[in-house]
Amino acid sequence: MAMITTVQQHILQQQQEMLKSTGREASGTFSWLLSGITLASKMIEAKIRSAGLSDVLGAFGAENVQGEQQQKLDVYANQALLHCLGLRDSVAALVSEEDEEPVTFNRDPERGKYIIVFDPLDGSSNIDVNVNVGTIFSVLRRLPPEHGTLEESILQQGFRQVAAGYVVYGPSTVLVYTTGNGVHGFTLDPAIGAFVLSNERMMMPEQGSYYSANEANAAVWPEEYRAYLEMLRSGGLGKEYSSRYIGSLVADFHRTLLKGGVFLYPPTLKQPKGKLRLLYEANPLAFIAEQAGGMATNGAGRILDIRPEGIHQRTPFCVGSKREMEALAAAVTK
Ligand code: AHG
Ligand code: MN
Ligand code: MN
Repeated sequence: MAMITTVQQHILQQQQEMLKSTGREASGTFSWLLSGITLASKMIEAKIRSAGLSDVLGAFGAENVQGEQQQKLDVYANQALLHCLGLRDSVAALVSEEDEEPVTFNRDPERGKYIIVFDPLDGSSNIDVNVNVGTIFSVLRRLPPEHGTLEESILQQGFRQVAAGYVVYGPSTVLVYTTGNGVHGFTLDPAIGAFVLSNERMMMPEQGSYYSANEANAAVWPEEYRAYLEMLRSGGLGKEYSSRYIGSLVADFHRTLLKGGVFLYPPTLKQPKGKLRLLYEANPLAFIAEQAGGMATNGAGRILDIRPEGIHQRTPFCVGSKREMEALAAAVTK
């Protein structure tokens, strides 16, 4: 019989390795917490899979904190995560794109050790047209009370994330995660309802052949970004780049992780601070990119070093292979 490794088994194996190498015993709390995320993502995937058959497509009728139209599936995905994670007593707070304020639980800091930050459904504009969407999450450890409040714990720099990952609901459903010991990919096996290991220790190619950006904004980007793309197109890095842009960050990132290249969402005249959100879009993907040998910046500096000031803060976001990102750092200085 062919042996499979599920995401739960994989986490337990990693914890056993940690025990061998550091002597630190893992409590199992963390794998229980991640099982809340995988359960919610299976609920979301089931809803999406049959979306056209039930009344779940279209607008919900309200705006979220970003002033964006909430889609029914945004609301469903958010509720699924809040429900599945809220029951875990290791959770101190849940921070979602769809909720203005963190959802907090009055749990003893000794038990409620983790904060989960998430974008329940990424790629809203693609929901109704059967194009890949996803869920992005980041896990932070709550600071001991003598070192900071719960709010300060939520606003920690990205390099302090203890785990990050995403799920892409595409032709197949994949889950990619890191706990700082490599990046691992799993595919949902619909026959058994489990995420099964399909890509262990994923590494981003050192160079790719695609760039990914919404070029309709090119006229309102800082000039350096236009020049940079022109350089990529015209063979400045040894090949003439082509473009791919899905408009769902998770899907554009997933391709960049597998194939290399670069994804850019620069500042624009209308959104000088960028469009994408630091805590639940840029930080988790930056952590994964770095773990896979890639790089992530806001154009000027490392994403994971930014000190967040608000939970819905936006940032310019550039992520990709080492070669393209080094060239970007040389081309863009602010
Ligand atoms: P969300 O659906 O969670 O609000 O995120 C939308 C984001 C992201 O997925 C994508 O990269 C970006 O918006 C696309 O923006 P443009 O339509 O401006 O290109
Ligand atoms: Mn998003
Ligand atoms: Mn979203």
